[in-house]
Amino acid sequence: MSSPYAAETRRRRTFAIISHPDAGKTTLTEKLLLFSGAIQIAGAVKGRKASRHATSDWMEIEKQRGISVASSVMQMSYREHVVNLLDTPGHKDFSEDTYRVLTAVDSALMVIDAANGVESQTRRLIEVCRQRDTPIITFVNKMDREVREPLDILDEVERELGMPCVPMTWPVGQGKSFGGIINLRTQAMTVFESGSERRPQDFETIPLADTDKLRARFGAEFDSALESMELATGASPEWDHEAFLAGKQTPVFFGSGVNNFGVMEVLDALVDLAPSPRARTSTTLVNRQPVVKEIQPEDKDFAGVVFKVQANMDANHRDRIAFVRIASGKYQPGMKLRVQRTAKELRPTSVVTFMSQRREAVEEAYAGDIVGFTTHGGVQLGDTLTDGASLQFTGLPFFAPEMFMTVVLKNPLRTKQLQQGLMQLGEEGAIQVFKPEAGGNMLLGAVGQLQFEVVQHRLNTEYDCDIRLEGCQYTGARWITADTPAELREFENAYPLRMARDAADTLAFLCTSPYDVRLAQERFPKIHFHPLREHA
Ligand code: G4P
Repeated sequence: MSSPYAAETRRRRTFAIISHPDAGKTTLTEKLLLFSGAIQIAGAVKGRKASRHATSDWMEIEKQRGISVASSVMQMSYREHVVNLLDTPGHKDFSEDTYRVLTAVDSALMVIDAANGVESQTRRLIEVCRQRDTPIITFVNKMDREVREPLDILDEVERELGMPCVPMTWPVGQGKSFGGIINLRTQAMTVFESGSERRPQDFETIPLADTDKLRARFGAEFDSALESMELATGASPEWDHEAFLAGKQTPVFFGSGVNNFGVMEVLDALVDLAPSPRARTSTTLVNRQPVVKEIQPEDKDFAGVVFKVQANMDANHRDRIAFVRIASGKYQPGMKLRVQRTAKELRPTSVVTFMSQRREAVEEAYAGDIVGFTTHGGVQLGDTLTDGASLQFTGLPFFAPEMFMTVVLKNPLRTKQLQQGLMQLGEEGAIQVFKPEAGGNMLLGAVGQLQFEVVQHRLNTEYDCDIRLEGCQYTGARWITADTPAELREFENAYPLRMARDAADTLAFLCTSPYDVRLAQERFPKIHFHPLREHA
């Protein structure tokens, strides 16, 4: 019998938008919201950005550096579909956060600046998508500028993604002579006009069959576009939906976000091409043995995973929000949830969906949806929540930090607040906190330098803890496990000063050079050193 939730999950699309800073991610996000009807006027997303700065102190850092620190979630409906858009921080120092966001989506929309091609930060994000075989839709933005040749861009995307590109639209000219885009499916050209007031339906379209008219209007640009389009389609494989879903082919769209141009095609692609929620891997205990179990989105039992915990999104509330990606079942208000890690029950009072400019109380939510609730502790990044079933989702990673700092509190009377602050920031994944087994100052571990600055700033403004960060000798860490407690003990005894526990109480070995791990591994071949920790 088909599940009563199947229809709901089928109409959901949950995707992340990824790009290098300045490629036009915010602009495109805004236009997608605008054309889906989620917002009424352009500028609202930027307005949201601005008010976030105004109301949240630590976001000052974001303002100063002009980067996007926090990721956010927005829901919209379009053509009978529920579309969940997850923004990702553009700065590389927050790549861990981005990685976790990417575990919560079923596809990704990659925005590329047509002048710059695939840039460094995009490259890192692509790697993550590739590891997970996340289907990627590509949008080549800023065609209204003097940019690179489309064939050249496709070539680069193909090389960087390691998968063939299949053009869905093709540009006629660029910069001052940008004439528009040819839609390969409808075999019609949409004529470009600049300005941000125009709606997609206001653009003129001319069938390709009307060659004389197109030639008369766009002259040599049109012929040269036809020529390069032919070359591109000749060199690329046929569109294969299955290959796209398997992360082995990317559809490519051209346009100009700021001019509302070529955006509707992307929104349609999200509905027509991007996948609905997929099965997620979990482990469950059978006779005390972990067994891998695939959780289907339409399963009746509710299950979800906390992929993000964020504090003080709105300084007026001073709250912490746990973001849950629903993996299966249906969420309804008042539902009791079980935190798998602690087996504790949780009955969140106000559970919200994130609309573009506000939070709304959830009436019902299904697989693919992102819901959030206020937490006062008891919920951590990576936690699996169910309505009873015993299972744990895998795959939410923590990376071994590559830089460490020691925390020195200026006013020792604030020790308690510091501990609380570090614990909470650690739970959020803003930083990794390590407590040396031998005692002494707490260590902060990060993947990017900026994380330290954010944490120092937040400890000061949110917990009134003025700290100094001092360098220390550690340059890396490995989480360690052993097959028997005795082996582990022996290792701990050999390196008593190198042992530390992280926020999840997992044992780690602190290193001072890359050789450390190799030497320790040679001495203790039975100990396992992990550069990645998955939430257990
Ligand atoms: P991001 O979120 O990826 O960092 O990029 P964002 O959308 O903020 O865009 C970065 C800049 O690129 C903005 O200009 C934006 O207006 C511009 N932009 C976005 N799409 C296009 C496009 O299709 N064509 C052209 N020519 N420009 C585009 P800015 O000067 O930094 O900001 P603003 O003052 O225009 O808001």
